[in-house]
Amino acid sequence: MTQPMLLTRRDDVFITGELLSRSLSQPDLAREKLAIQDLAASMVDDPDRVLPRFVELAMELTGGTSAGLSLLEERPAPGVFRWHNVCGALKAFEGATTPRHHSPCGVTLDEASPVLTRHAERIYAWISDASIVVPEVLLVPLYLGGKDPLGTLWIVSDEDGHFNGAHARCATELATFVGIALRMTRAESQLRQALDKQQTIAREMSHRVKNLFALANSMIRFGLKSARDKEDLAAGLSGRLHALASAHTLVLASEEDSAVTDLAALIRSIVEPHEMAGEGALSRFSLTGPTLACAASAVSGMALVFNELATNATKYGALTSEAGHVAIDWHQEGEDVVLRWTETGGAPIEAEPARHGFGTRLLDSTIVRQLKGTFTHDWLSGGVVVTITIPAGILAVQS
Ligand SMILES: Nc1ncnc2c1ncn2[C@@H]1O[C@H](COP(=O)(O)OP(=O)(O)O)[C@@H](O)[C@H]1O
Ligand SMILES: [Mg+2]
Repeated sequence: MTQPMLLTRRDDVFITGELLSRSLSQPDLAREKLAIQDLAASMVDDPDRVLPRFVELAMELTGGTSAGLSLLEERPAPGVFRWHNVCGALKAFEGATTPRHHSPCGVTLDEASPVLTRHAERIYAWISDASIVVPEVLLVPLYLGGKDPLGTLWIVSDEDGHFNGAHARCATELATFVGIALRMTRAESQLRQALDKQQTIAREMSHRVKNLFALANSMIRFGLKSARDKEDLAAGLSGRLHALASAHTLVLASEEDSAVTDLAALIRSIVEPHEMAGEGALSRFSLTGPTLACAASAVSGMALVFNELATNATKYGALTSEAGHVAIDWHQEGEDVVLRWTETGGAPIEAEPARHGFGTRLLDSTIVRQLKGTFTHDWLSGGVVVTITIPAGILAVQS
């Protein structure tokens, strides 16, 4: 018969002191040693087996009828314990949750030492509501090292007066060993993850290096066809390689602090060398537009495009005269990002140029083929206006 709840005092349920006063059962040290060996073997061969095996062995060695782990889930606050690896009579309750601050497990974590309860269902309604009767429960805290508890191991006995200090010692020793085993498994899997990440980075880098060589190769082949002379070829190549190097630096920096490359920072780093005015703020370029995260896959292409535009402005356009200015602005328009390059103050343009050189081909292969966008040149008498449209999903990282 269950006693009426109100008449049961907390001290009648928490009887940890009895662990000391009851006479000790004879420990079976050989079996305990085998249990530790068993756990050590699981740790090496099948780490997922460590916890279930631990619960089974703890139940067996202490003569319990049911046992399980209550693992602490801190979120959402104030947290709950979830039952795992339940074996024996209460197996059907696998996955059940119990309150962090209203359960024998909570008391065990607060006390940070073994706890013994007698008929805990008499003061915890959530136990009696589930029609569970637990004459005695021995609980020991489980740590993964350090002070943060993982949860508790609990072992139920159907017999009043069953558990004694020898059982508590044995369960605590197993729990300590399991804590260490889990810590080592965790350290090993962290190490493995770190190595996997290294390998991914190495593969990714090798992929990028190959791409860069292919790009440099095509820049040389096409540059040879369109360059007027050796100097023209050298200057063009050197400018493009610089643009690629800046883009690469930005991509690496953004990867290191797991940020993304800011479009404005990218454009700025490419046009800066064309400023000629030395260090400091841009005076011949103005950049206007919302903060946009440029996808790593688009960074090299964008760098090459802006390098071509800036080189042309310096060779033929606004930047040939001292009063010349380039306004760069961008905005989102539906599914696209629209970027505009507007030159003013240079020598007046009389007509659309008759010949297209490598620069135009590079814009075509980068914007149209690589970034799936479009571009147009408006040859206004005041200066050229280049409008570039690129799908936002390709250019930008969606946050
Ligand atoms: N910003 C500009 N202002 C005026 N004319 C330009 C500008 N950019 C390009 N052009 C003209 O368009 C032509 C084609 O440019 P481009 O395809 O980049 O080839 P390249 O730079 O090798 O001549 C240039 O030769 C030049 O006459
Ligand atoms: Mg050009």
